[in-house]
Amino acid sequence: MSLKTYSIEPFTPNNFKSFFKKRVKFEINEKALRENLFSEGIKGFEDLQKSEVKLNVKKPVLFYPGCGFDALLPLIVLKTLFGYFHEATIIFADTILPISPVIGYFKQLTGVERIFKKGNMVKFEYEDCKINCLFIESDVVLQYPDISSIDVYLERGFEMFRNKNPMFLDKNIEILNKKGLFLTDFGDITRDDLKHIEMPESVLNLGLYKGFKVYRKE
Ligand SMILES: C[S@@+](CC[C@H](N)C(=O)[O-])C[C@H]1O[C@@H](n2cnc3c(N)ncnc32)[C@H](O)[C@@H]1O
Repeated sequence: MSLKTYSIEPFTPNNFKSFFKKRVKFEINEKALRENLFSEGIKGFEDLQKSEVKLNVKKPVLFYPGCGFDALLPLIVLKTLFGYFHEATIIFADTILPISPVIGYFKQLTGVERIFKKGNMVKFEYEDCKINCLFIESDVVLQYPDISSIDVYLERGFEMFRNKNPMFLDKNIEILNKKGLFLTDFGDITRDDLKHIEMPESVLNLGLYKGFKVYRKE
């Protein structure tokens, strides 16, 4: 008879608790979602959720340049395009990036009350999902952030900026991990290393100008 072996972590009150805790998938507060999206956006969200595209990375890193105050889109991405994950990092970057409004938005969208802030880093937990956020207030072209690899590149309403700086696209695809997702609402990208993933028509509505597209790095 063969015996199964399990690795046992040293006991601490916290891991004792998590041992019995049900794994809960990351959620967005339904009411807040309806307040922040038009009905066609909600359909896009639901259809994106039903899509076959799922990135199975346990500790995904999302980079969102030109984020403005938008906390909703990265949360939609975490909710819809991931299988189970237990810790995610979102890197927000913008020339003007006050942290408090984004934190307020997070509270509203997730219902989480306890959000910890230290300098330009923020951390909160939703059930057993940890979300770490890094806020970079700078011009991402003049000073490209020190990021070595990402699982998701996210941009929305950034077309003027990308038009002026064609090298920026190359740099982001370079640091995007294989099978990573490139999400944009700007134009069609034709490159050998990016494969466009077909989505229902409604998903386009998640873009500011109704052009939201998903690509996967080959
Ligand atoms: C149209 S807004 C889109 C905001 C957000 N992505 C959304 O969907 O709600 C474009 C954002 O890009 C930012 N931006 C423009 N040039 C930038 C640069 N060089 N570096 C970082 N952010 C920039 C602006 O400050 C602005 O917040």
